Amino acid sequence: MIIEHQQQLTQAVLDVMQKTPNPRLREIMVSLITHLHGFIRDVHLTEVEFRDACAIIAELGHLTNDTHNEVVLMAGSLGVSSLVCLLNNGDNGNTETTQNLLGPFWRLNSPPTKNGDSIIRSPTEGAPLFVKAKLVDPDGQPIVGAEIDTWQSNSEGLYENQDEAQADMNLRGKFTSNENGEFWFRTIKPAGYPIPTSGPVGRLLIAQERHPFRPAHLHFLAFKEGFKTLISQVYFNDDPRLETDAQFGVTRALIGNFTRHTNAAPAPDVTGEWYNLDYVFKLERGEAKLPRPPIK
Ligand SMILES: [Fe+2]
Repeated sequence: MIIEHQQQLTQAVLDVMQKTPNPRLREIMVSLITHLHGFIRDVHLTEVEFRDACAIIAELGHLTNDTHNEVVLMAGSLGVSSLVCLLNNGDNGNTETTQNLLGPFWRLNSPPTKNGDSIIRSPTEGAPLFVKAKLVDPDGQPIVGAEIDTWQSNSEGLYENQDEAQADMNLRGKFTSNENGEFWFRTIKPAGYPIPTSGPVGRLLIAQERHPFRPAHLHFLAFKEGFKTLISQVYFNDDPRLETDAQFGVTRALIGNFTRHTNAAPAPDVTGEWYNLDYVFKLERGEAKLPRPPIK
């Protein structure tokens, strides 16, 4: 098609997209062009803005390496990661799900840990926290013998691989669910933390007067053949930033009922305040597949 007017351009591109042999790629490209051209018309994108946008996208790539992924950070900061998660879980977005974002800090080979043991592997400040969780199938029956990784930040918001002061694998563990589908362990109450702000994501947050913090949370990854691998985070109900998570990860289903106590200490060395969490993860049937660790 020889283009005589801007209005014809979109149709000319769509005509080409329609010839894509692979049906799924065709569907994606036709919809992408429709929305992308619509967006450009909607905001009447200027030439300067277009050049800036291209530079930002290139910068996202340039800043991405083995230890940092600015592309994923931007996807999270625009709510794209959460939308993809919520659309593809909970019966394809129709019901509540305990699936959530993986985040950058999951590592392979967390240390196998017995139920009831602590995941504190070097001196770590923070209120004691006793976690008990249960895995159930879609019928509510316990999932026995699943492997569950847990990982979290310390009370300063740092994961062990960001912090020289923590032992390797501190606040990480690998548990196995018992005959009731349960696993349990001792840890400390973590703190929320800021996402990296040195690149385009940080500049966007400043331009929008958004803080960079994620509310405090525990991470979980549960693996069992026959079930879609559960990737989850449970958020602290007392965190003031639950409604303003920089990554839009908090859903109602994932706000844990963390309970503060000041007496009836559950271990002889616990004095003062301590917390407990009881939580149930519902897994969907599907393919058990481990993700690739996001960073090295
Ligand atoms: Fe995290």
